[in-house]
Amino acid sequence: MSRRPRIGVMYSRLRVEEKWIFAALERRGIDYERLDDRNLFFDLEDPGPWRRFDAVLARNISYTRGLYALRVLNAWGIPTVNTARVAEVCGDKLATSAVLAAAGIPQPHTRMAFTPEAALQAMEEMGYPVVLKPVVGSWGRLLAKINDRDAAEAVLEHRATLGSVQHQVFYIQEYIDKPGRDIRVLVIGEEPIAAIYRHSEHWITNTARGGRGEVCPLTDELVDLVQRVVRAIGPGVLAIDILEHPQRGYLVNEVNHTMEFHTAQPVTGVDIAGAIVDYVLKVARGETVPQPIAF
Ligand SMILES: Nc1ncnc2c1ncn2[C@@H]1O[C@H](COP(=O)(O)OP(=O)(O)O)[C@@H](O)[C@H]1O
Ligand SMILES: [Mg+2]
Repeated sequence: MSRRPRIGVMYSRLRVEEKWIFAALERRGIDYERLDDRNLFFDLEDPGPWRRFDAVLARNISYTRGLYALRVLNAWGIPTVNTARVAEVCGDKLATSAVLAAAGIPQPHTRMAFTPEAALQAMEEMGYPVVLKPVVGSWGRLLAKINDRDAAEAVLEHRATLGSVQHQVFYIQEYIDKPGRDIRVLVIGEEPIAAIYRHSEHWITNTARGGRGEVCPLTDELVDLVQRVVRAIGPGVLAIDILEHPQRGYLVNEVNHTMEFHTAQPVTGVDIAGAIVDYVLKVARGETVPQPIAF
């Protein structure tokens, strides 16, 4: 490409991460546009207006909006960060688990069921405590640690009666007795660039729920695991959440594709926003491996 790249940034709300990304774009003198996802529409017969972008960075908070926009853009051949395929795998915990399992990557034992009765049987067989999660969600919302059959029956009945369609898939995990923290590794392209521990007195360690960040060294073992995850899911801008099992070691808990880094950036001192922008520019110039289209 001879002319300067033009970048679109889709967003839902201007969080601190989006502000840092815009600042990084401006520092580099990049021609970019802010695309508020409330105002967007896509005419499937007319990609013309979108062709002005050499790459689009998706920072949508809504999984659905991000994924659907990326599907259309990728179908038109417009490069995106992340790709629709990565969003599809990461945005749904069951899809992530299925891809990790196929790649033989260690993760918590996980079961899926469609009815409260089958879910109860899966939990009883697994042994308490278990963790029940919505397949789509973040910030530690609506996660339930279930310690016995009474609690299981109550939570399953509530989910079945009051939950939305997404809650009709029961995603059940063994509870990992981790050391008061989990690990978040930030990946840009194919490489881990920073990692933090998230400490909390609560079993849910998300910083959105009060978890405290601390630098986590990127050991060879962690880097190796992360590279296996990237090979399975595809390169992009990712945050890989890892649990430490007292006997089995590192288990991959989930992979986030529109991650927040308001804690990781100041704690590690790594310019994550700058690294994201540099990666988007590489994608815009076609310097990265093309990704398969997802539908
Ligand atoms: N199976 C588990 N065992 C122990 N802790 C867990 C387990 N699953 C999740 N957690 C804790 O809850 C947090 C949020 O879970 P996660 O699956 O990442 O959901 P979310 O998408 O809402 O962040 C994790 O960072 C971890 O601290
Ligand atoms: Mg998480």
